[in-house]
Amino acid sequence: MRCSIATRLTLPVAIIGLLVLVCVIVPRGTEAAGRRFSGDRNELGSYFAIDVEDGALSTPELITKYGYPVEQHESTAADGYIISLTRIPPRRAPRSPGRLPMLLVHGLLGSSADFLIIGPNNSLAYLLADRDYDVWLADMRGNRYSKRHTRLQSNDPDYWDFSWHEMGYYDLPAAIDYILRRTGARQLDYIGHSQGTTVFFVMAASRPEYNERIGHMYALSPAVCLRRVRSPPVRWLLQHVYTLQELFEAFGVQQFLPHSELQYAMTRILCPMNDPNNVCMQVVSMTVGPNPKMTDMMAMQVLTGHDPAGASVKQMLHFAQLQRSGQFRQFDYGRRNNTERYSHWKPPAYNLSAVSAPVTIFYARNDWLIDPREAERFAKLLPVPPSMHLVEDAQFNHLDFAMAKNARSMVYERILSDLEARERAGVR
Ligand SMILES: *[C@@H]1O[C@H](CO)[C@@H](O)[C@H](O)[C@H]1NC(C)=O
Ligand SMILES: *[C@@H]1O[C@H](CO)[C@@H](O)[C@H](O)[C@H]1NC(C)=O
Ligand SMILES: *[C@@H]1O[C@H](CO)[C@@H](O)[C@H](O)[C@H]1NC(C)=O
Repeated sequence: MRCSIATRLTLPVAIIGLLVLVCVIVPRGTEAAGRRFSGDRNELGSYFAIDVEDGALSTPELITKYGYPVEQHESTAADGYIISLTRIPPRRAPRSPGRLPMLLVHGLLGSSADFLIIGPNNSLAYLLADRDYDVWLADMRGNRYSKRHTRLQSNDPDYWDFSWHEMGYYDLPAAIDYILRRTGARQLDYIGHSQGTTVFFVMAASRPEYNERIGHMYALSPAVCLRRVRSPPVRWLLQHVYTLQELFEAFGVQQFLPHSELQYAMTRILCPMNDPNNVCMQVVSMTVGPNPKMTDMMAMQVLTGHDPAGASVKQMLHFAQLQRSGQFRQFDYGRRNNTERYSHWKPPAYNLSAVSAPVTIFYARNDWLIDPREAERFAKLLPVPPSMHLVEDAQFNHLDFAMAKNARSMVYERILSDLEARERAGVR
């Protein structure tokens, strides 16, 4: 049975579900009580140069609003999905001719806007553009910006038959080929957050020829080893994954938290900016790890206008399988169907020994999704030992990589100086 009403209802249902979850499991007035610092906010109440309107703007609208040039591109994956690429072209010719284009890839339920949310002089995309990098923001299949296909409509059930495997196997190679062709560069540098790293390692392991097209890969909170998930709502979802899977199948629901034009209006009512204990803050901090001191209420509000930006149910299930099995491998269809598909009862594992691109990993102690020990465990699986960078702020969480008040000083400035150092040394 497939009913389209159910698809349209998923967002409200999921929000109500999360609200119930929060009321049940989150003790009130815990660490989420925000401490206030005087002098760190502008007249709109934000640490950043952003405003409430930003939550209602699209990626290109945001870039334009803040005075940067923007171009829209698309690349077509080998299986027909059309991937949206947003470019902030450099204003001046780069000082060094060997400089590589930068590809930034968002996390689960996120979008290209995640690299823009905390505004100019803070968000990574703007910091790179200010230094004349050629910045490309990709949107993986199924999110609000990448819902087109050469053959299928996004309301067609077949459209949603993908997980992060296809993003790594098809979307990224298509995006990389497009950018290299367009810019004439031989390689690019890659920055991924969370699922943006998962898809990278899928690609680097299953299409090893693409390693040569990567100058350097920066993995912010790499999502490959997930055994020790600390987040209570995520643990709850993982515990009930089979029940949820049956429910989704029974109702023909294939999209998980699709982006809705209504969501910003709803969260602006549900989550007033002057309440550091509002339900968005609670849900988000219980999911990613609480860090009230470095969470900007305006940025949080803007975030709820952009994310969730949509994912497939299969993508969520694949993460649940990764978490449960501890095996980085293709989607598990069950013994019988695996044999049909893969000619083996077990899904094929991704061959991490084939990952030859140089990698730097940034990870954080208070990351409730990617435990620091898991990031360290993952590093040992790579054949070339990555540079490891544990963020100094002990309260830094999973989402802080995109929007903490100290994201710039803790993470982005390291990336910028690393890029510069490698450029000077000519390590390309
Ligand atoms: C940008 O941020 C840096 C570091 O926080 C600061 O020193 C600088 O004054 C800021 N520039 C602008 C234009 O706001
Ligand atoms: C396995 O294959 C059967 C027959 O094609 C199908 O009905 C079933 O849904 C599949 N199971 C999974 C988990 O994909
Ligand atoms: C994994 O990749 C390595 C390095 O490319 C290769 O030597 C090895 O044969 C691969 N293993 C499998 C099982 O494909």
